[in-house]
Amino acid sequence: MKRTTVDALDELRRLFDVPVDLQRAMIAAFHDEMSRGLAGGPSSLQMLPTYIDNPTGLERGTFLALDMGGTNVRVLRADLRGDGSAPAPVSRKFSLNRDPITSTGDILFAAVARLIGRFLAENGLDGGYRMGFTFSFALRQRSIDRGELIAWTKGWTATGVEGEDVVEILNRALLREGLAGVRVVSLNNDTTGTHMARAYLDPACDAACILGTGTNACYRERVANIRKPLGPYAHASMIINMESGNFDKALPRNTFDALLDVRSENPGAQSAEKMVSGKYLGELVRLIVADLGGRGVLFGGRLPDVFAVREGFGSERVCEIKEDGTTDAESVRALLADLGAGSIAAEDAQALREIAWIVSDRAARIAASILAATVTKNDPALDRDHTIAVDGSVFEKHPGFRARMEETFRELFGDRAARIRLELTRDGSGLGAAIIAAVADGENPKTQE
Ligand code: GLC
Repeated sequence: MKRTTVDALDELRRLFDVPVDLQRAMIAAFHDEMSRGLAGGPSSLQMLPTYIDNPTGLERGTFLALDMGGTNVRVLRADLRGDGSAPAPVSRKFSLNRDPITSTGDILFAAVARLIGRFLAENGLDGGYRMGFTFSFALRQRSIDRGELIAWTKGWTATGVEGEDVVEILNRALLREGLAGVRVVSLNNDTTGTHMARAYLDPACDAACILGTGTNACYRERVANIRKPLGPYAHASMIINMESGNFDKALPRNTFDALLDVRSENPGAQSAEKMVSGKYLGELVRLIVADLGGRGVLFGGRLPDVFAVREGFGSERVCEIKEDGTTDAESVRALLADLGAGSIAAEDAQALREIAWIVSDRAARIAASILAATVTKNDPALDRDHTIAVDGSVFEKHPGFRARMEETFRELFGDRAARIRLELTRDGSGLGAAIIAAVADGENPKTQE
């Protein structure tokens, strides 16, 4: 490899490093922000009450669920037996194109209501159904069955939804589409859904995390520790949706992060998410490659078009690049040829692969530091076991992501790291919504069968 390339990669490794002292600083700052957020003070962590606690595992009944806010919309029907057996929901994934996401709330929710209609028709379901609704954004809730969207993230911009009750918007759309039999009985964030799906079978589950298009985490907190005003709620503990993607203290921020942020739909917001999640990993790699290409370090100074367009290089490409284990980075070269970059030098392909690892390793270490902070808030010495339910393509698909996270736990806690168990809970956010619907419905005599 050319000296200039070797030096450039060394410099990047330094810029993207997350040594253990920095991990500790992030954890301390995260704990401060958690406390401030729970007290209702100014904090980058909103610490949103969800009005739901871990399930008992005894919840029963048939429920529908709608899961929207990531790459796909999922509709499902789950039969909960409440006997310790894992539910096997019938589900269907629909992809929503960019138009409804960036148009108006009415158009967006009408499209979603039609997908629910399709699911019901395809499965021969008619009659009355109770539905749980996972909406993967920050929600201001005063009860389990309603909540306002605080602000869009992840590039969603549909107008007329921020500040509005999304259950009401969805119910209106269902009525308009002739689906009056479907009644939305609960609302939750995707982290909370994932948490509930795992906790239904595993009482040690006390936190959950999404590492997908966006990132966020939730955990179980004692109500006595929530010092801001709460709506009516009967239990001693409650899951808190932290909106951790917005965490912005003690992060290892560099010039590439700053560049990505100013050009994003939400400058100044979601700092941690912009370093960790799938919507941004590809863009960070692209900005680095464009910089090195522009300085003549890569590609002989001729930057391939695929690196010239904002968000033109997705996180799934970063994933594919990392999967290449050949000495000469042959699949990286083949991939770039497929993307219209022509034939690139093996050395450039190797450098690109190295950049992909550098960017995603930092993401894994930041994600792990956030989860380390989450579980140590109420159990500083890790005296108990903590299952963290995790879902999302970055965690599931990126080579080495889980390994880097676990390595970070070991750097921080030594042998005690074994107390923290990351459990992939695939599509848990949909099933979790059905479980939440069961809990919510069981507590509401008006709606009991
Ligand atoms: C974004 C949303 C958050 C969601 C996360 C993962 O950070 O603001 O609510 O949980 O993405 O989908």
